[in-house]
Amino acid sequence: MVCLGNICRSPMADGLLRKKVNDEDLSVVVDSAGTSSYHIGEAPDNRMRETAKKLGCPIDELRARQFTVADFDQFDSIYAMDRSNYNNILKLSRTEADAQKVKLILNELYPGENREVPDPYFGGEQGFVEVFNMLDQATDVIINKLKNDR
Ligand code: 4NP
Repeated sequence: MVCLGNICRSPMADGLLRKKVNDEDLSVVVDSAGTSSYHIGEAPDNRMRETAKKLGCPIDELRARQFTVADFDQFDSIYAMDRSNYNNILKLSRTEADAQKVKLILNELYPGENREVPDPYFGGEQGFVEVFNMLDQATDVIINKLKNDR
């Protein structure tokens, strides 16, 4: 799961999918990163943490890191939150196989529409609830696919 800062959207996507993978007892590694170096080592944004806790999926333990080219070797699927993240990840791809791993997460819910998870960082509280709900739905689609692969 990849966004810009790895403190709002991608840690939420990471926490939600991790919880679902755990609940389903699947052996799938879930992680997240940011395309930027702005917040390396930081816990998720307080507003995202509060929303996450209130809605039943706390993410207090996650710490921000930056996406690296090695992630193409570690993961089968790389979900970008918006088109800017998507393009920045693609720039780091070395092969067509790397590039094929990169997807916009909301295309899981709305195939082919290239919708974006809005960046809640500069907005109000409601933005965080909306991000949670979008990512909850998108990770439901992903977990169902992973269950079918089992
Ligand atoms: P995120 O949100 O990409 O969802 O983690 C942001 C976090 C920090 C900044 C921008 C977006 N920033 O400009 O510091």
